Amino acid sequence: MTAEPARASLIDGKAFAAGLVERVAAASARLEAAHAIKPGLAVVIVGEDPASQIYVRNKGETTLRAGMRSETHRMGETTGQHDLLALIATLNADPGIHGILVQLPLPAHIDSAAVLGAIDPDKDVDGFHVVNAGRLAVGLPGLVPCTPLGCLMVLKAELGDLSGLNAVIVGRSNIVGKPMAQLLLGESCTVTIAHSRTRDLPALCRTADILVAAVGRPEMIRGDWIRPGATIIDVGINRVPSRDPDKAAQGKTRVVGDVAFEEAAEIAGRITPVPGGVGPMTIACLLANTYTAACRSAGIAPDDLSA
Ligand code: GUN
Repeated sequence: MTAEPARASLIDGKAFAAGLVERVAAASARLEAAHAIKPGLAVVIVGEDPASQIYVRNKGETTLRAGMRSETHRMGETTGQHDLLALIATLNADPGIHGILVQLPLPAHIDSAAVLGAIDPDKDVDGFHVVNAGRLAVGLPGLVPCTPLGCLMVLKAELGDLSGLNAVIVGRSNIVGKPMAQLLLGESCTVTIAHSRTRDLPALCRTADILVAAVGRPEMIRGDWIRPGATIIDVGINRVPSRDPDKAAQGKTRVVGDVAFEEAAEIAGRITPVPGGVGPMTIACLLANTYTAACRSAGIAPDDLSA
């Protein structure tokens, strides 16, 4: 009798996210009861991009479900930068708003960096402001980008102490790769960031106890790139044609990650599926950041939100 090869255990990001939303809701209710502060999040969307519309609606609904205040500001595709900056100035000055998120991408005629830079860093719940990037880099308290924060929470819940582990991050974006590296360095991992110019990426990936994939290339990371027993966090969300050729011909798509899941699951110890992996943690962390910002605005120490 031959033993079945062990398969990786699945990391259920949806369940993690639901737990975090519950803890944020409870902490927000305590903040409101004790200090009469209801955390408030303003989301700004410019234009009609269908995917962005869905993300923004989800953010608003989840915020309300957590018992927090939610505002959505919808602006037309042709909105001028001046009008967008005026709205941000109003939200910066509004004491009932603790978090401001400008949905990206913005229309091409708007300078995204100027807009993100206009948000009060203490209300920057996306953590994209250079002040928050700087705080993260030097280890000061700030607001941390939601996707890498969610990945870190999942990793700590799954693995406990991360110190001394080799972490390889594939992708060097300001939104995921770079802040992920800072966070893992803060946990005393040995961190390598790989990117399109990295030599022998498969060999580098094989050194990883923790592999975070955030490149946006469907199923690029293959099973034989993975160290047996490694923990794989797949941040990629890529649309590819349906497996069924008839459906593909009709334009039907499916969503895959940056990791070839079936192959990887044969080798890894733990893995996040796509969909259903760390994706739902992003909104949960947005609410956590809004709660944190609300506490700090009043000089109150936020409750610990870890599981
Ligand atoms: N568009 C896609 N993801 C994000 C995100 O995390 N924040 C913002 N502001 N826009 C996005």
